[in-house]
Amino acid sequence: MNRHFACIAATALTVLPATAFAQADELVLYCSVNEEWCRAQSEAFQRETGINVLMTRKSSGETFAQIKAEVGQPRGDVWWGGTGDPHLQAAQEELTEEYRSPLLDQLQPWALAQAETSGYRTVGIYAGALGFGYNSDLVAENPPACWADLTDERFRDDIQVANPNSSGTSYTMLATMVQLMGEDEAFAYLADLHANVSQYTQSGAAPARAAATGETAVGIVFMHDAVAQTVDGAPVVTVAPCEGTGYEVGSMSIIKGGPNPEAARLWYDWALSPEAQEIGAAAKSFQVPSNLNASTPPEAPDLEDIKLIDYDFARFGSADMRAGLLARWDAEIGALAR
Ligand code: G6P
Repeated sequence: MNRHFACIAATALTVLPATAFAQADELVLYCSVNEEWCRAQSEAFQRETGINVLMTRKSSGETFAQIKAEVGQPRGDVWWGGTGDPHLQAAQEELTEEYRSPLLDQLQPWALAQAETSGYRTVGIYAGALGFGYNSDLVAENPPACWADLTDERFRDDIQVANPNSSGTSYTMLATMVQLMGEDEAFAYLADLHANVSQYTQSGAAPARAAATGETAVGIVFMHDAVAQTVDGAPVVTVAPCEGTGYEVGSMSIIKGGPNPEAARLWYDWALSPEAQEIGAAAKSFQVPSNLNASTPPEAPDLEDIKLIDYDFARFGSADMRAGLLARWDAEIGALAR
C-alpha cells in the first residue's frame, strides 16, 4: 500500500463507524474508459484495499442512460471515466452525489473547473483532444489535415465515427462542430460527412481500431486513441484538425444512493492520486492526467501544441443542450438513408 493511500485509509478508519467500514468490501464500478484501462484500474484498487470491484465497461452516453434508468434503485457506486458532458448532465439532474475530495487542491485548473461547474458532483480525471487517425497504407496520397477534408468524396464510405447518443467522444465532436461553425452549419457539415461514414459505432474509440486494421481509412476519435494504435504498431497517423478542435475533461462521479458509499469515496480519493492516475499509461491510455503530480505519458498529444477551442463545458454539458443536440442529430443525421 502506498503512503498516500495508507493515509486516506487511516482517515477513513477514524471517521467511519466500524460497521460502515466493515461493509465496504465491494464496489460497483461503471467504467467508461477503454476496457484494458478499466480492468487494470479495478485490479489495482482491489489489490490495495481488498475491496472487490464489480466493473462494467460502457460508453459515456450509455452509462448516463443506465444511471438515469436506475434512479430509485441505484446499483452502481462510482462512474469513473468517460467524457465530462454527460457527467455534468448527471450532476444537473442530481443523479450524482456532491463530494469534495481532500485531493482537489492537487488538480489541474480544468479538472477543478469541472468540479466547480457541477457543484462538486463530478471532477476531472484526465483531458484529451479530439481529432482523427488515418491508415497511411490506405491513404498514401493527399492525407486529410482538416475537418473540411473529411467530406471530400475521396473518403466515400471510408470514415467511421461513433453515434453521439451512446458515445461521449462523438457527442464531443457534435458539440465541437457547433462551437466551431454555429449549429445550422454544424448540422450541414455532419450531413455532408454522413455520405462518407460507413458506420456509426457504439463506442468512441472503435473507429481507431478500425483504422488500425484497415477496415476504414479514417476514424474520428480522441487523438490519444489513435496514438495508442500507432504505439501498438499499426500504420495510423494522428491528426489535430487545422480549423481547431474540441477536447474532453474525462470525469468521475459518485452515484447518488449507491449501495457502497464508503467504498465509493475510497475509490474517488485513490483515483485522484498520482499513483492511481499513472496506471492509464501502463494500460496504453495516453490522456493527460488531472493530478499535477502525476507524470504525463510522453505519448500523450501535447495540448499546448493543438489549436483548442474554448469548449464551453457548462453549456454543452447542460441537460437542455445535450438532449436538444442529440434529438436534432437523430432527426437530421441518424435518420438519413445509408
Ligand atoms: C475512450 C477514450 C477516453 C474517452 C472515452 C469515451 O476510452 O480513451 O478518453 O473518455 O473513450 O468513451 P465513449 O465510448 O463514450 O466515446
